[in-house]
Amino acid sequence: MHHGLEVTGVLHGYDGLISGDFIELKNESVSNIIQRGGTMLKTSRSNRFKTDEGMNQAAEQVKKNNIDALVVIGGDGSLRGAEKFSSQHGIVVMGIPKTIDNDIYGTDNSIGFDTAVNTVVQAVDKIRDTAASHDRLFFVEVMGRDSGMIALTSGIAVGAEAILIPETATRVDQLVQILERGWERKKYSMIVIVAEGDDAGGAYKIAEKVKIKFPQFDTRVSILGHMQRGGSPTSADRVLASRLGFAAVEGLMEGRKNEMVGMVNSAIRFIPLKEVTAQRKVMDKSLVNIANILSQ
Ligand code: F6P
Repeated sequence: MHHGLEVTGVLHGYDGLISGDFIELKNESVSNIIQRGGTMLKTSRSNRFKTDEGMNQAAEQVKKNNIDALVVIGGDGSLRGAEKFSSQHGIVVMGIPKTIDNDIYGTDNSIGFDTAVNTVVQAVDKIRDTAASHDRLFFVEVMGRDSGMIALTSGIAVGAEAILIPETATRVDQLVQILERGWERKKYSMIVIVAEGDDAGGAYKIAEKVKIKFPQFDTRVSILGHMQRGGSPTSADRVLASRLGFAAVEGLMEGRKNEMVGMVNSAIRFIPLKEVTAQRKVMDKSLVNIANILSQ
C-alpha cells in the first residue's frame, strides 16, 4: 500500500485460491495482529491444488481477479506448489519461508522456528523440575517429521543429555551407554529430546526400548505436540517476518519473480524457487558435535 498497490488476501491457502475466497486488505486489516500466532487469513493443506484441475482453476481465479503477483507464505509443500504454479501457468510468484521445521533451503531461519524453539525450551524447563525432584528420565518428543532442527536447537538450549534427530541414525545401545555413564556419575535425572520423525520411532517406542535395557531408571514420556505451532511470536520471528515481507514486495516491485526471499547471515537474499525446492537444507553438523560434547 506504501507503493500504491492494491492488496488482496487469499483465505484458506491454496483451497481459497481455487475457489476465489479473496478479501480486500487495508492497512487496518493487519492492526493488532503482530502479537498473535496462527494466521488471520486461515490456511489449509490443499489436496486439490496438487491436481491439474485444481491448479487450472486457481490460475483462472488469479487472471480473473487481475492479480499481478502472488506472495506465498509457507513451508516445503507451499513453496513446491508455488514453483509448479509459476512455471506451469506463468503466474508471478514470490515465496516467503514460514515453517516451524526450519527445513527450507536458502534461508538461515524460517518464520515460526524461533517461536517454536522457545516454546519447547519453556516446556522442558518445567519438565526438568519434575525430572530433578523425582529422579526421572524424561523423553520429550518435539515436532519435526523430517527435520531435527527444533530438536537440536532446543536440545542445546535446555542442556539435554541426548538429542535424537531424523538426520542421524539413532542407536538405542549408544543412547543407553550415554545414560549409564550419567547414572554412574550420580546424575539421576535426565532429558532426552526426540524429534517425532526419528528413525528409531517416536518417544514412546524409544522409551520402551531403553526401559528394557535400563530398568532402574524411572521413565516418563511427554509429547509437546501442537503447542509448538501456536502462541505469541518471539521478537526474532516478528522482525524476521517484517523484513521478509518488506523485501518480498520490494523484490516484486523491482521485477523479480518466481523466487523466494530468505535471510542468510543477516542479509536478504533472493533464490529461484526452482533451486529452493530442488535442494535440501543441510543441517549444521557442528551443532550435533556441540550437543554431544556439552551433554557429557
Ligand atoms: O510441517 C510442519 C509440522 O509442524 C511438522 O513438524 C509436524 O509434523 C506437522 O507440521 C504437523 O502437522 P498437522 O498439524 O497437520 O498434524
